[in-house]
Parts: sequence; C-alpha cells; structure tokens
Amino acid sequence: MSFTSSHEQQESSRPKITLQSIQQKKGKQRITCLTAYDYPTARLVDEAGIDIVLVGDSLSMVVLGQENTLAITVDEMLHHTRAARRAVRRALVIADMPYGSYHLSSEDALRNAARFIKEAGAEAVKVEGGEKRVGLISRLRDAEIPVMGHIGLTPQSLLLMGGYKVQGRTLGDIEQLMRDAVALERAGVFCMVLEGMPREVAAMITAEVHVPTIGIGAGPECDGQVLVLHDMLNLTFAPHAKFVRQYADVAGNIRQALESYKADVEAGTFPGDQESYHLPADTRSALEHISERKRALRK
Ligand code: KIV
Repeated sequence: MSFTSSHEQQESSRPKITLQSIQQKKGKQRITCLTAYDYPTARLVDEAGIDIVLVGDSLSMVVLGQENTLAITVDEMLHHTRAARRAVRRALVIADMPYGSYHLSSEDALRNAARFIKEAGAEAVKVEGGEKRVGLISRLRDAEIPVMGHIGLTPQSLLLMGGYKVQGRTLGDIEQLMRDAVALERAGVFCMVLEGMPREVAAMITAEVHVPTIGIGAGPECDGQVLVLHDMLNLTFAPHAKFVRQYADVAGNIRQALESYKADVEAGTFPGDQESYHLPADTRSALEHISERKRALRK
C-alpha cells in the first residue's frame, strides 16, 4: 500500500518548471500563469499543472482590500510569497516587487530583490517598466536574480497614467512599447508580461522578441496568459475588466454555504449526532447508573 499523496505522485511525474523550460515553450506550447498569494490557493494552482505561480502585488487589492497596488510593502509581499512557496512543488514561483521597493536606488532594489529569493524562496522577481528599467534589470541579473518584465498597462504607474488605461493605441505609443520590449529583452529578462494593450500590438511584440510574452488583456497571440486568480474565480467585489473570463463563482458558493450554516445553527440542526463525539459504552452505562442512584436517593 502506498502512502504517497497525490501532490507527491504528480511531483514525480511532472518535472519542475525552470526559467529554461518556460523559455523553451516559446512558439511551441502556450505558457500558463496565475496569481496566488497563500498556501491553499498556490497548492491548488500548482496541482492543476499551471506553469507559473505569480505572487502579484494585486494581492494588495484582492486580498488586503486596498484601493490599488501602491500601498503594499515588501514585508507584506514577503509574508505571502513564503506561504505560496511552501505549497508549490512544480511551478515556477515569481514574486512581484512592490511599488517603492525598486524605485528609490539600485542598492535598495538589489537588497529587496535578494530578500524575495533568500527569505521567501522566490525563483524570480517581476518589475514594471520598459526602457527606464534596463540598468536595474542588468544589475539584478549580475546579482544572479532572474527577472520577469512587465510593460503596457503597469498598475504601479497609476498616478502618472491617470487611471487604468489600455496602452499602445497610437503609433507613437506602439513604437514606445516596441522599444520597451526590445530593451527588456536586451537587459536580460527571461520573459515579460504584456498588460492592457490591443492584441495587434501584443502580437507584434511577441513576434519581435525571443523571450516569451505572457499576456493579460493583451489578446491570444501572446506566448502565454496570466489572470488574477480571484478575478477568474469571482472572489472579488469590483466589476471585472473585459478580459477576465469567469471560470467559477466562488463568492456565490461561499455566500450559499454561509447562509446554510447560519440557517442550520439557528434551527438547531447543526451539529447533528454524526458530528458529535460519544462516550464509550461502559462510561455511558456507569454514568446512567450514577444518575439513577442520585434520582433514587432524592425520592
Ligand atoms: O500583480 C499582479 O497580479 C500582476 C499580474 C496581473 C500580471 O502583476
């Protein structure tokens, strides 16, 4: 009889995902990526065979209830990356560098990035921005830290962008995005997220660069796709963006379960006999005997 868990069995039948295996998929096999920020969801994502678990700073909004991604700290991101990392056996785990953790100085950026690798077990970090991040990305690479790039709609640029707006709609903007993508590749990213841009632009970038592109709101021609887990499961309270396909209604299921629990407790039908512990037969009959004697003495 075998005592190996299904997680362990899957682990031995599917090899660990590495930077190299992600890169080798370009042009051959689509890459799958989802966010996860804790042990149970990261474990489910990993067991489903998703290639990349991204501990995204979207965590700030969908789990911590903040208005945007700007407020989340390195320590908060580290805490969640550690939890997700503990769950993952096969997928590549990438941690998002939060706003402010790589914007102030390159020493600061290197120190923060190294914490994600050393203290949280991340296998790469993600930074937002194109040409302006070239120097930083090469320094991170020199420090043996693999980097995922992220261009297009970059949520950490919310204040400068004046809202979450689809990027790359004019010829000038398209040229800039192409320059950004090529610059990231030259700087040494091993893949890049393309977020919130017309599919035609994402297709051009995907054809131009040799590293995989992972799209979100960037159409089907990207080398892979990423979604925020809580969006695709409907476990958020904000209206969903156009590009989110809802694969489950977890909020609906949770609501139903909570209503049933409340009704059962109030009606006294939970817990039932099956959900209660019982005395061993000899203790029960001894107890009954004591109660009978007490009743008899009272008469
Ligand atoms: O923070 C995040 O979840 C992300 C993905 C949407 C790419 O950056």
